Amino acid sequence: MSTRTLVRGGLVVTAAEETHADVLVEDGRIAALAAHGSAAAAAWTADRTIDATGRYVIPGGVDAHTHMEFPFGGTFASDDFESGTRAAAWGGTTTIVDFAVQAVGHTLREGLDAWHAKADGRCAVDYAFHMILSDVHDSSLKEMDLLVEEGVTSFKLFMAYPGVFYSDDGRVLRAMQRSALNGGLVMMHAENGPAIDVLVEQALARGDTDPRHHGETRHVLLEAEATHRAVQLARVAGAPLYVVHVSAREALAELVAARDQGLPVFGETCPQYLFLSADDLAEPDFEGAKYVCSTPLRPREHQAALWRGLRTDDLQVVSTDHCPFCFRGQKELGRGDFSRIPNGLPGVENRMDLLHQAVVDGHISRRRWIEIACAAPARMFGLYPKKGTVAPGSDADLVVYDPSATQTLSARTHHMNVDYSAYEGRTVTGRVETVLSRGEFVIDRRTYTGRAGHGVYTPRATCQYLG
Ligand code: URP
Ligand code: ZN
Ligand code: ZN
Ligand code: ZN
Repeated sequence: MSTRTLVRGGLVVTAAEETHADVLVEDGRIAALAAHGSAAAAAWTADRTIDATGRYVIPGGVDAHTHMEFPFGGTFASDDFESGTRAAAWGGTTTIVDFAVQAVGHTLREGLDAWHAKADGRCAVDYAFHMILSDVHDSSLKEMDLLVEEGVTSFKLFMAYPGVFYSDDGRVLRAMQRSALNGGLVMMHAENGPAIDVLVEQALARGDTDPRHHGETRHVLLEAEATHRAVQLARVAGAPLYVVHVSAREALAELVAARDQGLPVFGETCPQYLFLSADDLAEPDFEGAKYVCSTPLRPREHQAALWRGLRTDDLQVVSTDHCPFCFRGQKELGRGDFSRIPNGLPGVENRMDLLHQAVVDGHISRRRWIEIACAAPARMFGLYPKKGTVAPGSDADLVVYDPSATQTLSARTHHMNVDYSAYEGRTVTGRVETVLSRGEFVIDRRTYTGRAGHGVYTPRATCQYLG
């Protein structure tokens, strides 16, 4: 039995255009768009009609960087796939790309199977996987080819965290060479881990144990240096490169230099680097632990460069790096030693709203909002135009967004399974009203109507920015 839903009277905003159009949804896909008030649109009938007058109709957000149940520092990120994807839906995100982890000494297949087991039947919205390579050797390199074929087309490597996820330059180069052959995209955590570990050890020896020293020891220049090195290694390998969670102006400058030479180098930043700063990390009484993530929050001066990079397309994507740890019991593991604070911030629910606030504040245009939050991540990771736009044939992942409602972000009202908000008390303009995922109502006028298991695993094509 076919179900038809009609979204009427809204301003449809995609990365390419803004039009007053009605959207007809049939069997989980967008069947047609027609100018609002046109004879064609007036003739449409549906089982359900959403009145989107005065609202935006936008593609569901694509968050290409989440870590549900991520193992870190002896604990696990506090959102699982069920709570995390429900929170994503509340925030207008209808697709996440999460990081499956290859544990050292294990195969990629084992890691991927484990992540499928965590996510299967639990997600409220659709999901896909990247793979974290933490043990690069001949057989894991061969396995990369198989993963690309089955829709896991991107691989995160770490130049940071020696002894955990770290790969040395030789391993990085080998993975890049492989991705140059198999069409995969290497995603780099670009920080010089061995050098950072020296600074951390020295800081702790001096008695500098507070959370703010996390930021200071993860020096800006060690992000820039690693970014530069990653670019050169990618050039040598003839591989494209995507640098995750860019936080420092100097690191962005390395990407700009590479892109100006025409290299296939891409960059992502996250809301925390755009809206928060080292001042938050310096909050007294260990409150700064709430803001410990890597790359770290930087002094406020870096924000202008990141906004500029988003406007000039030197940064293509804003993802959350959602990796929540509760303050009580998890962040507290690092009292008296900042290096033991689990790294990561909650944010999967806040991204679309914070970036809409950036539209209100004049940092980016409305279409650029949709580009960096929906269309570009979908293209970067091979999900376009199924995801990331509002067009005939695309999945009916739609958000009816009220651009004039205001809301105050708070742990008291958010849906993420974490006991604090990194944006506590911040008032933003704009709010998700209704969310469809493949035509099904997940949020209906601010009521959750979704279910665990609606979201399906979505294999991906290779990066669509490459030839
Ligand atoms: O602090 C962070 N970003 N935690 C998640 C792991 C990573 O490096 O992305
Ligand atoms: Zn094993
Ligand atoms: Zn990282
Ligand atoms: Zn991450």
